[in-house]
Formats: sequence, structure tokens, C-alpha cells
Amino acid sequence: MEKLLVTGGAGFIGSEFVRQAVKQGHTVTVIDKLSYAGDMERLKEAEHNFIFHKVDVTDREAVQHVFESGKPDIIIHWAAESHVDRSIVDPSPFLDTNIKGTLVLLEAARHYGIRRFINISTDEVYGELKGEGQFHETTPLNPSSPYSVSKASADMLGRAYHRTYEVPVITVRPSNNYGPWQYPEKLVPVVIWKALHNERVPVYAKGENVREWLFVADCVNAVFEIATNGNPGEIYNVGSGEEKRNIDVVKTILQILGKSEDQIEFVKDRLGHDFRYSLNCHKVREEIGWKAKVLFAEGMEKTVKWYVDHMDWVKRKI
Ligand SMILES: NC(=O)c1ccc[n+]([C@@H]2O[C@H](COP(=O)([O-])OP(=O)(O)OC[C@H]3O[C@@H](n4cnc5c(N)ncnc54)[C@H](O)[C@@H]3O)[C@@H](O)[C@H]2O)c1
Repeated sequence: MEKLLVTGGAGFIGSEFVRQAVKQGHTVTVIDKLSYAGDMERLKEAEHNFIFHKVDVTDREAVQHVFESGKPDIIIHWAAESHVDRSIVDPSPFLDTNIKGTLVLLEAARHYGIRRFINISTDEVYGELKGEGQFHETTPLNPSSPYSVSKASADMLGRAYHRTYEVPVITVRPSNNYGPWQYPEKLVPVVIWKALHNERVPVYAKGENVREWLFVADCVNAVFEIATNGNPGEIYNVGSGEEKRNIDVVKTILQILGKSEDQIEFVKDRLGHDFRYSLNCHKVREEIGWKAKVLFAEGMEKTVKWYVDHMDWVKRKI
């Protein structure tokens, strides 16, 4: 089995990856600085079956030590500051972690050698679609928020390290994830929490912004497939094809919970809010043979049920 080094493994998507990797019998090392968004409770299910280092990815010496001691084959780089609204309030930590942190990891990979470096980017690097159309892997990057600028920089750094130093980097650009264990500052857990507590449910502007909703287990599954079958230097969009307006996502959640749409409160729009993202996923389907399995309706039912059953965890985070 492969030796995997997973950054940000205590986060929302990274922890799903670690739980699946441990189940599959891989040797897993996790590095995570345990920011406000990191939580070892997400990894309880995988306990004792992975090595954990509480390390900041911007700490060059600590990262080098992990590479020397663990000699990983594959790095899956999830660690990031991930919340757009926080990046609007203060971009600095986003530039530090997302750009410098990625640089430190790429340098370590260049120095110590690695079989694959899976650089997790995002659909947000493309900027916004105003109307119809889709982003292809060849679409020029045009990020809007400090978050997406930091991710686009990390994305391009990864590709530069492949081209310049032949570090075997593969770039993955997933769409909007939802599912269990997401930190309750993001739309889905916020709506569930507020709805259950009979509070007003805030929706930006008129809720017309469109995102492509990908169940977290599907995203992780795509990354496993790409790590196994993808080629260095390539970019893969990973989306579900399930485009929804925010207002429809909120209404779906309220309906599952049996709550009234009267709880919805339209609030002032996010600054620079991108209108729509949509990924063309022909390449990942044709070359990797991956396709999302979980339909939005089914994934959202599962997600709402999970939060209802884990309200204690959410309460500790709010
Ligand atoms: N959530 C989505 O919808 C989505 C969509 C596309 C791409 N992505 C990307 O996927 C990755 C994971 O996203 P997420 O939603 O799970 O994020 P998250 O915020 O839930 O988790 C991020 C993890 O990284 C850790 N971390 C933060 N700064 C660190 C640092 N300096 N050193 C080490 N660890 C650090 C945190 O402690 C946390 O465990 C990110 O790269 C994000 O940009 C997310």
C-alpha cells in the first residue's frame, strides 16, 4: 500500500479522505495545524491508524522533518484557509497558508522526491460566469476574492513546479462540497442550525447565486481515482453537474426539516460575490472514468440527518 501524506486532514474534506484512506489500508500521515477549522474529532473513526503531526504547512523545518521521517509516496494537499467571507475581512492568513504553505510543500517534494503531488485547487479560481457556459480546464484563471486569488496562486505554483522542476503535480479543481463534518460557518450547516433553532436563516441578496453541489464522499473518491490514474502536469475539474441556486438549497433544507420558508431572511450581498460556477467534467469522466454517484437530493437528506444527529458537535463550534 502507498504511503500517503495528507495535509489539512483534520478539516472537513481532508478528514473524509483520511477516514477512507485508513479503511483502504494505506499508511497515512496527517499534518494539520489545527486552526479553528481543524478538529481531531472528525478522525475518531480512524483513530490509531494514522500518524499525526500538529504542523503548520508554512513551517519549512517542521515540514522537512515530516518528509524525512515519513518518506511519503503521495501527498494530498488539502490544508488551506477556506472561508471566502473570512478572506474578505482579512486576506493575510489566506496568502500565508494557501500560497506560502503550498510553496513549502512543493519545495519539500522537489527536494525529497515524491511519486505524486495532488494539489487541491477549487472551481473558484476561474472567477464567475455571468450567464450560461462552463469552465474547462483550459479556461484562463480569473479569481475574484482574496480566497480564490490565494488558491489560484497555489494552483499556478503547483503547475510551475511541474514544468520547471518536474515535480509530479496533478491539479484538482473541485466544486462546492457539502456533507457531514463541515464547519458551521458555511451555508449548509448554518442553515440547518438556524432552522432547527427557529432563528432567521440568512441568504445573501436574493439567493440567486449558483453553485455546483458535490457530496464530500464523491469528491474524495475522485481524488483517489485521480491520484491512481491521473497524469502529472494535468488538471482535472471535479463537479457533480448538480447546479443549484442558493435559495433552492436553503428551501430544500427547510423542507427536509419540515420548517417554514418564512424563516428565510435576505441579507446584504457578499462583497464581490461571484454569480455562478459550472465545471465541464468531460476530462475526468473520459480519462479517469470518474463520475459523481450521489444525487443532490440524496446527499442533502444524508447531510441534514447527520447534523441533526450531531448537534452537540455543531453547538461546540458555534
Ligand atoms: N469546501 C469546499 O467546498 C471546497 C471546494 C473546492 C476546493 N476546496 C479546497 O479543499 C481543501 C479543503 O477544504 P475544506 O472545506 O475541507 O477546508 P477546512 O477549512 O474544513 O479544513 C482546512 C484544514 O486545514 C488546516 N489548516 C489550515 N491552515 C493550516 C496551516 N497553515 N497548516 C496546516 N494545516 C492548516 C485546518 O486546521 C483544517 O483542518 C481546501 O484546499 C479548499 O480550498 C474546498
